[in-house]
Amino acid sequence: MAGSVDEQPIENEGQGRDVVLSARDVTVAFGSKVVLDRLNLDIYRGEILGFVGASGTGKSVLMRTVLRLLPRRSGTIKILGQDFDELNEPQRNALDMRLGVLFQQGALFSSLTVKENIQVPMREYLDLPHSLMDELAHLKIRMVGLAADAADKYPSELSGGMIKRAALARALALDPELVFLDEPTSGLDPIGAAEFDELIANLRDSLGLTVYMVTHDLDSLFSVCDRIAVLGKKRVMVEGTIDDMLAYDDPWVQAYFRGKRARSIVPQDNGARHDNGSGGK
Ligand SMILES: Nc1ncnc2c1ncn2[C@@H]1O[C@H](COP(=O)(O)OP(=O)(O)OP(=O)(O)O)[C@@H](O)[C@H]1O
Ligand SMILES: [Mg+2]
Repeated sequence: MAGSVDEQPIENEGQGRDVVLSARDVTVAFGSKVVLDRLNLDIYRGEILGFVGASGTGKSVLMRTVLRLLPRRSGTIKILGQDFDELNEPQRNALDMRLGVLFQQGALFSSLTVKENIQVPMREYLDLPHSLMDELAHLKIRMVGLAADAADKYPSELSGGMIKRAALARALALDPELVFLDEPTSGLDPIGAAEFDELIANLRDSLGLTVYMVTHDLDSLFSVCDRIAVLGKKRVMVEGTIDDMLAYDDPWVQAYFRGKRARSIVPQDNGARHDNGSGGK
């Protein structure tokens, strides 16, 4: 939480808000294929940032790069005021423990029960007695709205929505400050997705989480996200509120936020629009 011992908040020029993740000039490439090109992004403490972009633009790649699962070619990334590159192994582990992750694919280990899945990060980072780990796992299961008997079930015995909740419980296993969610509501029906969004918002409010959420779900963007960042042209091309998106003059952004589906969710006429493409970038 704010004021943790080893935290060095970065002052954000202009806004003075506590930046918990800052990416500067981040370039990621696979061979000659550049996916991210000098990308910049800030995430502020306590916000739910919705990260969108066309399929294949690099949303998951950015998340994996931030988590050091993919190498970057250049640029700096600071998380909770610290740069992994400047840390030794114990310091990296300590920082890793403050992050929670729900991956787009392979959210849970299929050979482990829900309880055992939630305990994976505990076993990796903490040395706790069995009984305490069981208690903690049950607490997380309750926290994400699963029934207590989900604890001993295997992923194959769960519905899609339950798997997402169990994966969220695992992401929360170590009481992180910053959680990365890659399309957490994909595959859920609209009601299940709305409930999941509500859960995220409640957890943010009660635990003070900061949430980085990759999503294609316009409902989520509109109902729970404080800010939106759009990935396009290998960078974050626009970040801000829904109004900022509606006012942004780019064909993909306009199609996305003003398309057929958006019209039933996002209020379109709020004075923010720059008509006739006249509002430049
Ligand atoms: N390990 C890898 N090796 C080579 N190319 C990769 C690798 N991971 C991702 N890519 C490529 O990087 C690009 C961005 O992929 P990414 O998975 O980040 O897309 P995305 O924005 O998350 O898409 P979606 O919305 O479909 O999940 C794609 O062209 C993908 O093929
Ligand atoms: Mg992806």
